[in-house]
Amino acid sequence: MVGNRLSQARRKISYGLTAVLGFGLAWAVTPGLPVIWAPRAGASAMAHGQELFEHEWQVHDPIARGDGLGPVFNGKSCVGCHFQGGVGGGGANQHNVVSFEALPTKDRPVLKGGLIHAFAVENKYTEQLGTLKELYPVIPGSVRVEGNCQVLIHDFDPIRTESVNSTALFGAGWVDRISGKTIYQFGLRKSVSKVGRELVGEFEGIMPGRPRVLADGRVGKFGWKAQFASLEDFVAAACANEIGLGNPKMTQATPIGHNYPDVPADLDRKQFRHLVAFVDTLARPEEVMPADPAEADLAARGKRAFAGIGCAACHTPDMGGVQGVYSDFLLHRLDDRSKGATGYRTVQTVEVPLPDAFPLPEEWKTPMLWGVADSAPYFHDGGSSTLEAAIGRHHGDAEVVLEAYVRLPAPDQKAIVAFLRTLRAPKEAKPASAPSGGSLASAR
Ligand code: HEC
Ligand code: HEC
Repeated sequence: MVGNRLSQARRKISYGLTAVLGFGLAWAVTPGLPVIWAPRAGASAMAHGQELFEHEWQVHDPIARGDGLGPVFNGKSCVGCHFQGGVGGGGANQHNVVSFEALPTKDRPVLKGGLIHAFAVENKYTEQLGTLKELYPVIPGSVRVEGNCQVLIHDFDPIRTESVNSTALFGAGWVDRISGKTIYQFGLRKSVSKVGRELVGEFEGIMPGRPRVLADGRVGKFGWKAQFASLEDFVAAACANEIGLGNPKMTQATPIGHNYPDVPADLDRKQFRHLVAFVDTLARPEEVMPADPAEADLAARGKRAFAGIGCAACHTPDMGGVQGVYSDFLLHRLDDRSKGATGYRTVQTVEVPLPDAFPLPEEWKTPMLWGVADSAPYFHDGGSSTLEAAIGRHHGDAEVVLEAYVRLPAPDQKAIVAFLRTLRAPKEAKPASAPSGGSLASAR
């Protein structure tokens, strides 16, 4: 009897273990859950959030709990940089933001990053590249003797700066809901199939790219470098860094090289939650086919060619249940030659290797193409004013696709651009008036 019961128990345990293992295996190989529900929020939260998004902040603003605008900032309102195609859209190059990284050195092994703000509430807080260079000075080169050879070690300037263009935020809530696991698995599948092709001697081809896994293990989706995993995190950083609004998730940016007194957070929990709700529920971009049948035909042909020549390998039409987003959310190197032969290759002189997961200076996340017709200029630096120019910058990981594009007859190239022109900002977007901001004197 007892033996019987024991073996029954053993059997149950082994079934249980098999089930757990099975689920574990299934979890590991299947993509994350697809997005099914549209982002939602209460009408009053969205309306209040919109007011905050459009609000022009002042120093000691009456609706701020702390010191209001600043002490250092890049703009006075969210809509001031996010306005093209309506409230929440992208911005022109005059609103670009300058970010910096101080790469690790032997004496300072931790990488530092931040923004060089365009404006300050007081002259003494004005940030300049010079101040940064004093804080993170050039490490002088030297000559090392190795056996019979003299090895020349170049000067190492740890500071890298980039001017980045404001992206459109339409559909951000949908992107927020794409499972990080889906992106990770997608990247893995691309890498495995690339290795498979190399094993049979096919070395040409589109490079797979890689997901950005953040320090806490989450997969980055937002920002040109995929530097944030959630919309809420990005909004917190935008408040703190672009406008100087401390909030429940992040303290405000303080001037480089100054001690700025601690002040209460500018936004309280409710204000912050409502601002996030507004950005989260911004309508998603749409594909608008031209009414003219000949033009509609051209765009449809372009859409097929876009997939046919390999654009869709990175600008993946559907991701994790979100249709028409056109991104794989992976980091790629397009080896931008517009910066000259040495422009990007200087990283090899790093003193201390970058952490593996950290993007190289020349790596950028594939931007979503939804709404692209209304979000010029293009590329992380806003350096391409037209869609044609943006396509022409696809070297590196996308070289074979660019070659295929260049080989296409002119009408097919036109068709691809015609297709991209159907990717529009949402019709529901509230029209935005041209931002003011002219009264601000630039510090740069
Ligand atoms: C001075 C211009 C400027 C202001 C002001 C500004 N932004 Fe941005 N925003 C940018 C730039 C530039 C980027 C791209 C940054 C990057 O990817 O590194 C960006 C990106 C974003 C993103 C990420 C979108 C994506 O899909 O990756 C969000 C979300 C965002 N901003 C929200 C806000 C909110 C909310 C405010 C107001 C609190 C705001 N921004 C104010 C310039 C601005
Ligand atoms: C290997 C991956 C890859 C392939 C293949 C690829 N792209 Fe891209 N695309 C990118 C990346 C990465 C960027 C952003 C690069 C940057 O900002 O430095 C980009 C940027 C763009 C942009 C600018 C979008 C914006 O918002 O700034 C357009 C338009 C574009 N690609 C269209 C295309 C077309 C059309 C094709 C096919 C001819 C194509 N891409 C093939 C990865 C790819």
